[in-house]
Amino acid sequence: MSTKRPEALRVAVLASGRGSNLQAVIDAIEAGTVQAKIVSVISNKKDAPALERASRQGLSSLFVDPKPYAGRPDSREAYDRELLDVLRRHNVELVLLAGYMKIVTKVLVEAFANRMMNIHPSLLPSFPGLDVQKKAIEWGCKLAGCTVHFVTEGVDEGPIILQAAVPILDDDTSDTLAARILEQEHKIYPRAVQLFAEGRLRVEGRRVFIEAGKPDGQAVISPS
Ligand code: GRF
Repeated sequence: MSTKRPEALRVAVLASGRGSNLQAVIDAIEAGTVQAKIVSVISNKKDAPALERASRQGLSSLFVDPKPYAGRPDSREAYDRELLDVLRRHNVELVLLAGYMKIVTKVLVEAFANRMMNIHPSLLPSFPGLDVQKKAIEWGCKLAGCTVHFVTEGVDEGPIILQAAVPILDDDTSDTLAARILEQEHKIYPRAVQLFAEGRLRVEGRRVFIEAGKPDGQAVISPS
């Protein structure tokens, strides 16, 4: 059961690649399981399939070129200040990093403290960084998975919101494992967005608590 917001949560998605997580959120919004509106899809890559996907869906999509900032000592912060302007212009309430291959700086992290999420294809804090499915197999792990977390300055370090685990099979390659994990990513990312939209995520230090839904005044459903 959810707290009804007067208007849909305004979400921006930052993506550098194929955008399947973006698509999962779009689909969940269309299916009515997530009460949100994607007001902007932004990429640091001009030819990111995620941007194409966004335009196909009629969403506002924007390439923000990092090149003009290259070489400056504060290049990353300056880039993020440009992003912040865009996000503010769109009155964004929640930012989703979805395969966004650029490390975000203090500029965005502070402006969107506990309002910016990332999805990562490992069971954090194991295997932050890149090529993590391969690393999990090589380490000999029996379980892998994915994590949705709030974004802090440390890469893949923020408070964990949701995780899903999958088995690692003997004949897994990093591709087969990545595909199994991705299926779960597409479930838990929209779910985390909806929990946020319902105002049910409470952060205490490193821990994120999911509060029970509050009656919306119209009906009480039992069990909720
Ligand atoms: C996903 O595996 C996500 O966990 C990671 O980057 C990948 C992005 O995939 N951060 P997509 O662009 O959403 O398809």
